[in-house]
Amino acid sequence: MFNALVVEKDEDGKTSASVQRISEANLPEADVTVAVEYSTVNYKDGLCIGPGGGLVRNYPHVPGIDFAGTVETSSDARYKPGDKVVLTGWRVGEAHWGGYSQKARVRADWLVPLPQGLTTRQAMAVGTAGFTAMLAVMALEDHGLKPGHGEVLVTGAAGGVGSVAVAILSALGHEVAAVTGRPETEDYLRGLGATRIVPREELAETVKRPLETETWTGCIDAVGGAMLARVLGQMKYGASVAAVGLAGGAGLPATVVPFLLRGVNLLGIDSVMQPYGNRLRAWERIARDLPMDKLEAMIQPATLADLPELGAEILRGQVRGRVVVDVNA
Ligand SMILES: NC(=O)c1ccc[n+]([C@@H]2O[C@H](COP(=O)([O-])OP(=O)(O)OC[C@H]3O[C@@H](n4cnc5c(N)ncnc54)[C@H](OP(=O)(O)O)[C@@H]3O)[C@@H](O)[C@H]2O)c1
Repeated sequence: MFNALVVEKDEDGKTSASVQRISEANLPEADVTVAVEYSTVNYKDGLCIGPGGGLVRNYPHVPGIDFAGTVETSSDARYKPGDKVVLTGWRVGEAHWGGYSQKARVRADWLVPLPQGLTTRQAMAVGTAGFTAMLAVMALEDHGLKPGHGEVLVTGAAGGVGSVAVAILSALGHEVAAVTGRPETEDYLRGLGATRIVPREELAETVKRPLETETWTGCIDAVGGAMLARVLGQMKYGASVAAVGLAGGAGLPATVVPFLLRGVNLLGIDSVMQPYGNRLRAWERIARDLPMDKLEAMIQPATLADLPELGAEILRGQVRGRVVVDVNA
């Protein structure tokens, strides 16, 4: 028997989450059983711990869209007992039972070996949010972003994706402008390497003019909605925006003018179905380019019992940086 956070749904459709003792017989069928060491809290986890957001198919459900730990048993030749592994994406924690558990059973195809130079705790301090931030940096680089050409904007900067994006971009030598709705996070964001703080209200609404002064040489956007629409009109000629999230809304009240008159690129970033090779490349880059002291500054430790409250907090946009869940604490 072991501990897991189990979400149940009552007859009225109301969900409730609690730590319960479950057995290995409860785990889904798959080829690798992992003794989970750490998991984390992403925006999607907030949905899966709470209202479901249309992501969870069946209840009772064990959420946790990512985890890191040690292989216990494997019927797949790529993994053997004792191997350290990381999982993000593949709808684990949504359609499939996830990482808020002392044990998880998943398909070998979904795992990657723990990147060299990272501990399982550090890998989950990065987690899906940080992995996605790196995918966004890589996409901007593939479209010509180089240090020394001006400011890169990061929206939702004090959140998980935003914090890691700020730290990576700064370490790569970029000037980073951080958009936040929480002025009290200024010292934190400057500590991660932000050189300018942009109050959220400055970009919260669209304006009539489709083009404004060319300001940003790149952007990692975790917010979407009106903010993304506004930012598109402020991009420099030929610059790219990596669209990562929808913390501020899924709509996009924009015009196509920035694409047509300034050659601006809007790059979609998906972490869930990323092919294996690109996953390895992103994790290698994280181990190389994300300063571990800055990662440490983002961490808030937690246990399985803390998750219902943290899930609600992340949906309210109140979690700063990255939560690391020690599932064995
Ligand atoms: N594409 C992918 O594969 C992928 C992967 C991971 C995450 N995501 C998405 O990326 C987004 C961020 O995820 P996360 O885990 O980093 O969540 P998070 O830690 O909650 O960060 C989101 C941040 O956005 C800002 N924000 C929240 N509500 C806002 C609003 N109404 N208007 C403007 N800004 C708002 C807040 O930053 P400030 O307080 O600094 O303003 C908040 O901390 C989510 O939408 C998530 O679903 C996508």
